[in-house]
Amino acid sequence: MNHQTSTTDNWEAIRAACLDVLPAHIIAFIEQNQDMEHSEGQLIAVLHMVQAHFGFLGQDTMHAVAQLAQIPLAKVTGVATFYHYFRLQPRGKHMINVCLGTACYVKGAEKVAQRLMDELGIHFGETTRDGLFSLDSTRCLGTCGLAPVVMVDNQVFGPLTPTDVSVLLAKYVKKEKVAAE
Ligand code: FES
Repeated sequence: MNHQTSTTDNWEAIRAACLDVLPAHIIAFIEQNQDMEHSEGQLIAVLHMVQAHFGFLGQDTMHAVAQLAQIPLAKVTGVATFYHYFRLQPRGKHMINVCLGTACYVKGAEKVAQRLMDELGIHFGETTRDGLFSLDSTRCLGTCGLAPVVMVDNQVFGPLTPTDVSVLLAKYVKKEKVAAE
């Protein structure tokens, strides 16, 4: 077996392993953009596709992207962790978005956000251990008259104090307990 064959075999093995992890349309996109090493924009586009498909960027998918695009894993994880819109954990059952737009900010959104982080024990971009809640921030939701507002799944709540937020969370937790009984 000459060197060329061995390299090809190795590449086919890598590609096959990546096919187990990534969907075919993402593999095709990576293969069409083989100069990804020189374009952070293309890498970001791939990571968006991965997140759209899986809901988050897992270690296995980032590893597969790095292998297929032939770029260092550190570069992939570096981009994934730098941009706050990439999630590194699965989304929780309920997605909580705190509006940090100007109107909400001046009305105390930061305190509301801090209370949520304290109660849930997570930061923006993270998911609680029980998988019940994910927390994130967002820009203006267009409901400034209710500032400060929090959106849980598709429902907007406001105006909220930190105490209101505790009550709101307790309601969701209670609802889940009742559903589980
Ligand atoms: S700034 Fe929060 S809803 Fe507009």
